[in-house]
Amino acid sequence: MKSIAMVGAVMLAGLFAQSASANECVHTVEATASMAFNVKEIAVKKSCKEVTINLKNTGTMAKAIMGHNIVITKTADMTAVANDGMAAGADKNYVKPNDARVIAASTVIGGGETTTFKFKTDKLSAKEAYSFFCSFPGHSAIMKGTFKVVG
Ligand code: CO
Repeated sequence: MKSIAMVGAVMLAGLFAQSASANECVHTVEATASMAFNVKEIAVKKSCKEVTINLKNTGTMAKAIMGHNIVITKTADMTAVANDGMAAGADKNYVKPNDARVIAASTVIGGGETTTFKFKTDKLSAKEAYSFFCSFPGHSAIMKGTFKVVG
């Protein structure tokens, strides 16, 4: 009886270990009505291969007024990508189409909405400086943070 319980406990531990590592590849970020992200850093594991980011707009204002997205680029590219995104307009989610500098980007969402985007980590380097930001006009000066890849 005791040994069966032990086997059960070990199996359960294995199950938890498995789901924990899967969870490490899913990140949830909130964007607020006060034009802020709830995290200053997103650190993804290279071993994930594919990362999922869920973005939740916790505000109540419409997409056209206080919309938010997440764009990931090298930090050196951030300003130029944000400017080109602004020029591309709302129809393009404030991201220039086929912009090779964009590593990943979500759609723009309004208050109460959630969006999900996925990207692969194979071309990302732990030695490179990346940032994430909101490309909605005027937001990237405040709505930004460090994006990094860890072992
Ligand atoms: Co924003």
